[in-house]
Order: sequence, then C-alpha cells, then structure tokens
Amino acid sequence: MKEFTTNIWSVDKESDSLSGHPQIIQASLWIKKNEVIAFPTETVYGLGGNAESDEAIEKIFAAKGRPSDNPLIVHISSVNQLEGLVADIPKRAQLLMDAFWPGPLTLVLPKGERVSRRVTAGLSTVAVRMPDHPVALELIKESGLPLAAPSANISGRPSPTAARHVFEDLKGRIPGILDGGPTGVGVESTVVDCTSEKLTILRPGGVTKEELEEVAGESAVDPALTTNESAAPKSPGMKYTHYAPDAPLYLVDGSSAFLQQLVDKEKARGRITGVLTSDENADFYDADTVIPCGSRKALESVAHHLYDALRAFNESEADIIFSEVFPKKGVGTAIMNRLEKSAGGKIIKE
Ligand code: TXA
Ligand code: MG
Repeated sequence: MKEFTTNIWSVDKESDSLSGHPQIIQASLWIKKNEVIAFPTETVYGLGGNAESDEAIEKIFAAKGRPSDNPLIVHISSVNQLEGLVADIPKRAQLLMDAFWPGPLTLVLPKGERVSRRVTAGLSTVAVRMPDHPVALELIKESGLPLAAPSANISGRPSPTAARHVFEDLKGRIPGILDGGPTGVGVESTVVDCTSEKLTILRPGGVTKEELEEVAGESAVDPALTTNESAAPKSPGMKYTHYAPDAPLYLVDGSSAFLQQLVDKEKARGRITGVLTSDENADFYDADTVIPCGSRKALESVAHHLYDALRAFNESEADIIFSEVFPKKGVGTAIMNRLEKSAGGKIIKE
C-alpha cells in the first residue's frame, strides 16, 4: 500500500455556502484521481472513493482491512445520480426517499449496470443513500461522482464520529480527511432491503422502525439480527466482529449494584476496570475508569457519544469493561445492536 502524509482539511459546515470551498476542491481532486479520502456525514465519517472505479474501490478495502465479501454503500447528492446506479425504484423506496433523504437511511435496491461488482461484492443489489451533511453533499457535487463509502475506521474498530478518530486509524494510509467537526447522529444509517416482499430492516440505525413504518407500512427485521441462530444475515457486514474496544466488554443486564459487584470482583483480582454508563448512574460506580455516554432520557445523546466512549477505553488501559444496557426502543435498538457486537455477544444477567 502507498504511504501518504495525511492532511486534515478543516471545513466549517455552518458556512453559508460551501460551493468552491478550497479544501473540498482539494479532496475532490484526489477522488477524481481514484484515490480515497475521509469525509463527514451526519452519522459517522466515511472513507470515500469513486463508485465507478475498481481501482478506487480496491483502495478502500485495502485502507480499512475490510473483508472483500462485505459490500459498500454508494453516496449520492441528487436523485438524478440513481440513473444507471439502480435498475428500478419500487414505490415504497420512492416514498422512503421522499420522507428521509437526505438522511440516515440506506436503501438496498436492484443494481444498475454502472455499479462496479467490487462495490456490491457480487450481489445483484446495491445500497444507496443521500447523506444529510453539507460537506458530504458538496464533496459529491464537486467530484461529479457517486461515492462508495464505508465507515472510515480500521475494520473491527468503533466507527469514527470525529476527524481525530479517523486519523488514529488511517493516518499514513490516505491522503486526507475533510474535518467537518463531530458527527450528529453518531451511529450508522438504517439499512433497509426494498427488494424483498416486505420491507426488511437489515441494520438498525438513525431512522427508527417506527419512523419507517409511518411512511411505508409494516416492516420486518432480518431474523439474523434478533435470534442467536447462525442464520446468515442478509447484510453481509452484520456477521463480523465490530465496534470493539481493545479490552473485552461485557453487557450487564441488571441493577447498578450488581454491575458494581462484578467490578469489585475484578478489582480484587488486580484488574484495571472500566464502566460504560448512562449519565444518570455515573456517580454510582467505583471503577478505574467510568465513562458516561449520555442520558437515558434522551437515547439520541447516547447514540451521539457511544463510539467516542468505546474508543476512550483504549486510552484508559482497562483490562475489562462492563457496560449498562439500554431499552431497545427508538434509536435504542441501534445502540443495543452496536453494543451487542462490541461485546461479541457476552452478556451477564443478574
Ligand atoms: O451511516 C452509514 O451508513 C455510514 C456512512 C459513512 O454513510 N456508512 C457505513 O458503511 O456504515 P459500512 O460499510 O460500515 O456499512 C455498510 C453496511 C454493511 O453492513 C454492509 O454489509 C451493508 O451495509 N450493505 C451494503 N451493500 C449491501 C447490499 N447490497 N445488500 C445488503 N447489505 C448491504
Ligand atoms: Mg462500518
């Protein structure tokens, strides 16, 4: 792999107009040369490359160390770009686009002839989304190309919600990062399959099941997400270990007192302990590192802080981390999906 000096290109996303912004032009020049750069979206930072170039796609997989059977999401700035990208737009997909784009919703549609097989990992479908972030939209416009982009982390690590997270993971591997400040939602987009008989949620995310159903009627959830059976998930990425801090993380389904007992036992064995908690319970715990990640009264705040909190444990030298669980409703479904993955399924019940 080529070595780069990784530039940080700062852009104030609140500017009145980003049209012709010199840093965005810089980034787009690399895209047009089929190199890959990182950019902010409203969910997490993406690692973007020309979706029509096999060369660019290969560089994305190499920089991330991503398994090649895991397809990428194609990002667009205008619905006109769907031409050639998708073969058909079913009615309910149209309704969802009208309601949620730009926004944290990815639609899986029949693939068009212009998409590289490397993007879709050989599937007959393609995942597309229009991000709700002025820097992302301007970058796509300026490049004049749809951008294939996975989250801009090394595979297996928590997704990046700030430019410094991308730098930690990818410095030297990419020519630059467009820094648009911290992302908003904090967990990735909801991925829905619009090609199956019933609308099917393949990955819970920023748009909730309740919100989807208001627009497109009843939906199903990929059974691989809710059962422990070894059913292969329809979204290939869901089968890998993900979002993991360096130390093992255990989910604790029980009271704070029970979680503290687990901490005390580990401390007695000489271990450095970490606790991931809601703001409400932060003062209760006595551990080497206690990281509050938002309020139970506003699960959106937990989603926003989650990945930064998981990364922060790597600086704490914790040997073992215990995490509270959150209610699986609204964006809580996405939070728990990510936490279950970072725990690799390890859960302790009181
Ligand atoms: O919020 C997001 O979606 C972020 C930002 C950067 O847009 N992107 C992101 O990409 O999370 P990534 O590559 O980390 O996750 C993409 C997910 C994976 O689980 C992948 O398997 C699934 O989407 N996916 C992509 N194409 C698919 C397809 N044709 N059918 C089913 N699942 C697909
Ligand atoms: Mg990812």
